[in-house]
Amino acid sequence: MQASCNVTARAQRLVQIPRGRHTITSAAGHYRNTTRTSLAAAERIEMFKSLEGWAADNVLPLLKPVEKCWQPQDFLPDPRLPAAEFAEEVRLLRERTAELSDEYFVVLVGDMVTEDALPTYETMINTFDGVRDETGASPSPWAVWNRAWTAEENRHGDLLRTFLYLSGRVDMRMVERTVQYLIGSGMDPGLENNPYLGFVYTSFQERATFISHGNTARLAKEGGDPVLARICGVIAADEKRHELAYTRIVEKLLELDPNGAVLAVADMMRRSITMPAHLMYDGRDPQLFQHYSAVAQRLGVYTAGDYADILEFLVGRWGLEKLGCGLDGEGRMAQEYVCGLAQRIRRLQERADERAKKMKKEAVEFSWIFDREVVL
Ligand SMILES: [Fe+2]
Ligand SMILES: [Fe+2]
Repeated sequence: MQASCNVTARAQRLVQIPRGRHTITSAAGHYRNTTRTSLAAAERIEMFKSLEGWAADNVLPLLKPVEKCWQPQDFLPDPRLPAAEFAEEVRLLRERTAELSDEYFVVLVGDMVTEDALPTYETMINTFDGVRDETGASPSPWAVWNRAWTAEENRHGDLLRTFLYLSGRVDMRMVERTVQYLIGSGMDPGLENNPYLGFVYTSFQERATFISHGNTARLAKEGGDPVLARICGVIAADEKRHELAYTRIVEKLLELDPNGAVLAVADMMRRSITMPAHLMYDGRDPQLFQHYSAVAQRLGVYTAGDYADILEFLVGRWGLEKLGCGLDGEGRMAQEYVCGLAQRIRRLQERADERAKKMKKEAVEFSWIFDREVVL
């Protein structure tokens, strides 16, 4: 790390300490401030308009043609089979899940519910100035991307939902109720219609989902279900491709407007990255999201360490430590803050882990698994 990226005392004061024992998310009350990106909204719209040709050449190729995409049906029992053979496929599916734990299913349901709130995410991206779909079928490459990205993502929730339904391991009615509540609630990650913040957020999120689906794949394999491992694996691969697209957009912003872009990265991290399903509710547990996150943390599916790793990865991917000319004083402060943050999060997490070890373990009932208890 370059000397300029050491965390200064002032930058340290700007760190928002993640809340709670399981610090990967903050469900509400995140940092509020007007973003100090250097361009005004009108200039941003102009800029993204001028980048349409670039987006067509550099972002759209990261979509996969529908004909080359996997579909949920590729991984599920084939309903064209005679009833007895179909039932046999379902029986085998259930047999394969037998060794997977209740807590694994809690995490898989939480992941599926998160994927299923896709209408919220498409809406959120359509709030970004300069890239929103003005008609619903706009030919702008930004709008084309958003619709096709949504269509690719839509397969994730579909596949996980059908798998969970066939597994018989979860209370589908409670899962469905959670999805309805969540879509009804929306999300508020504090992006202020600003595509700079928006694409930093989506870069982070795609990598977070890549990591968590990769970990559910690994656990499925270890637990004796190679088909579920493949399911989670192909979803993770999509997330990786989407991460590439969003990080490429931020890379372009850093090239054209390094000061504005690094301020956006810093602003986003100061708010802390709120997970997309932070308003999750099943009608019973007001802390459902925190409880699901705690189980994901304990199983190693998505942890505070992953949060710091993602940040570190993005700092490297975007070459933030090397940004030199083009930054003013405020930009350099933002650079220092962002480049030192992962280390600081890790230190705070170590202390939180120490405290957590001394606390009594709590068990919570999850409606998704028929009110059985899971240790957090
Ligand atoms: Fe997804
Ligand atoms: Fe995604």
